[in-house]
Amino acid sequence: MEDEILRLKAEAEAALSAISQAGELEPFRVKYLGRKGEFTLIMRQLGKASAEDRPRLGKLANEIKQVLEDAFTARESELKAGQARAGAVISEDLSLPGRFTPFGKLHPVTQVMEEVCSIFEGLGFAVAEGPDVEVDFYNFEALNIPKHHPARAMHDTFYISESLLLRTHTSPMQARVMEKQEPPLRMIAPGKVYRCDSDITHTPMFHQIEGFLVDRNVSFADLKGVLSIVIAKLFAPDTAIRFRPSFFPFTEPSAEVDIACVICGGSGCRVCKQTGWLEILGAGLIDPEVFKKVGYDPEQYSGFAFGLGIERIAMLKYGITDIRLYYENDLRFLSQF
Ligand code: DAH
Repeated sequence: MEDEILRLKAEAEAALSAISQAGELEPFRVKYLGRKGEFTLIMRQLGKASAEDRPRLGKLANEIKQVLEDAFTARESELKAGQARAGAVISEDLSLPGRFTPFGKLHPVTQVMEEVCSIFEGLGFAVAEGPDVEVDFYNFEALNIPKHHPARAMHDTFYISESLLLRTHTSPMQARVMEKQEPPLRMIAPGKVYRCDSDITHTPMFHQIEGFLVDRNVSFADLKGVLSIVIAKLFAPDTAIRFRPSFFPFTEPSAEVDIACVICGGSGCRVCKQTGWLEILGAGLIDPEVFKKVGYDPEQYSGFAFGLGIERIAMLKYGITDIRLYYENDLRFLSQF
């Protein structure tokens, strides 16, 4: 029995010194020192010892248990102190990097959209928004593009029904606004437009800003003046611009407006296809047929209109070569703006 007590002492001491974490303390205590632990079992067995041995063995077992309990308490406070020390070190380590909270940002298209709008608002233009799902009348008819007109083929329209479609441009806002308001008008209409087209310079959804101004005696010179100011603010102040004759059914005369290539400055490169110029918008004087459709007298009023693509302007501003990057939601791309 004495051997058994001593063996248990050695075993418990080894187990105690092997404990390296506070979590291991309680299982140790239960196993050796608890009410149903090994030492309690031994005490119970003392009854079997001879009457002369019993007091000595009882004393021995009690002493050993006491020694173990003291060692246990010492080990326990040692481990807890170690933990507290480790905690103190961590909370005071000023060299640890701070916790980083990532910030969201506006999408580059939204940023450029807001920038262009605020330039026009600075020139006294009001903002009007219209529906993405448009009726054929405003998208085409009112803009002097009747059914079967060849210009419809250029629009790659998503039709919803025979008379309902996803607007292919923001120009329908010309008719919607003029129908309700009398001149003088100075408006821009920003928004999403849709065309069944997808490659490195086309996405099925993109953004445009339509602008128009109607009053008495509005001339092409007014159009050129307004666009020159806007382009100077949007790009560099000395950016050269040129007007190229073009055709749109809702303007006469019509022009496409180019700016000197923002990459090569006009000397010719891959982006401007060696021409030195980049097309950035379509414009013209509003066709008298459009005025007639909304009940304006073309003898009294004249006006100009223009339409520009936001993705394209943002591509030129930031040197983006694939329009599809805008809509892939890749944070490595988006967080650069
Ligand atoms: N709506 C035309 C398009 O999406 C752009 C445009 C060209 C708008 C000439 C105009 C304009 O107001 O005068 O291709």
